[in-house]
Amino acid sequence: MPRSAVRLRQVRHGDIPAIHAWLKDPTFHGDFLFGWFGAEDDFTAMKKKLDVFLKQGQARRFLAVERTSDNMLVGLVLLQKGRRADCRYMGVYVETSSRGKGFGSEAMSQLVDYIFKTEKSVDRIEAATSTMNIPSQKALEKIGFRSEGIKRKTAFRDGHWEDSVLYALAKGEFRRS
Ligand SMILES: CC(C)(COP(=O)(O)OP(=O)(O)OC[C@H]1O[C@@H](n2cnc3c(N)ncnc32)[C@H](O)[C@@H]1OP(=O)(O)O)[C@@H](O)C(=O)NCCC(=O)NCCS
Repeated sequence: MPRSAVRLRQVRHGDIPAIHAWLKDPTFHGDFLFGWFGAEDDFTAMKKKLDVFLKQGQARRFLAVERTSDNMLVGLVLLQKGRRADCRYMGVYVETSSRGKGFGSEAMSQLVDYIFKTEKSVDRIEAATSTMNIPSQKALEKIGFRSEGIKRKTAFRDGHWEDSVLYALAKGEFRRS
C-alpha cells in the first residue's frame, strides 16, 4: 500500500504561529471565513481558544494536516456537529503553497475514514464549497461526495456574490482515495 502523503494529528501549541500567519493570508480561507479563533490578528485570543478546545476535550474538532515526508504542518481540518446527531460537517484547508499536490483530497479521505471509524452512529457527512472552487469540488467528488444543490448568494467576494454547492456523503458511498 503506498505511504500516505499526509497524516492527521491533534493541533499543538507549537502550530499556532504558522496558523496565525495563514489566517492573515486572505487566499488561505477559500470559501469561508475561518473564524474559529476569533479575531484573526489577536494572537493571545487564538492561544486561549486552543487551550479551551484542548481542555474541553474538543481537540478532535480541529486537526492538523501534517506532511509525512518531513512532519511539516501543511493544513487544517475542521469537524463540526451537523444538523442531526448522526451527521457531521467538515472542512479542509491546505496552506497556499502546498495546494494542488494531492494533500487536500488525501486529508479529506483520512478525515472521512476517521469519522466513520470513530463515530459509529454517524451516517452522513456534509460539506459546502463555492461554485467557483473547483479543487474543493473535485476533491470531495473524488471520495464519493455528491452535490445536493446550490445555495444562492452565500458569500460576497471581490465585488460580487458567489453561490455554494452543498455536498453530502452517506456512509456506504465513501471511496477512499
Ligand atoms: C480545497 C483544497 C482543500 C483542495 O486541496 P488541494 O491539496 O489543493 O487539492 P488536491 O491537490 O488534492 O486536488 C484535488 C482535485 O482538484 C484538482 N485541482 C487542484 N488544483 C486545481 C486547480 N487550481 N484547478 C483545477 N483543478 C484543480 C486536482 O487535479 C484534483 O482532482 P483530480 O484528483 O481529479 O486530479 C485546497 O485547495 C484549499 O485549502 N483551498 C482553500 C480552502 C478551501 O476552499 N477549503 C474547502 C472547504 S470545504
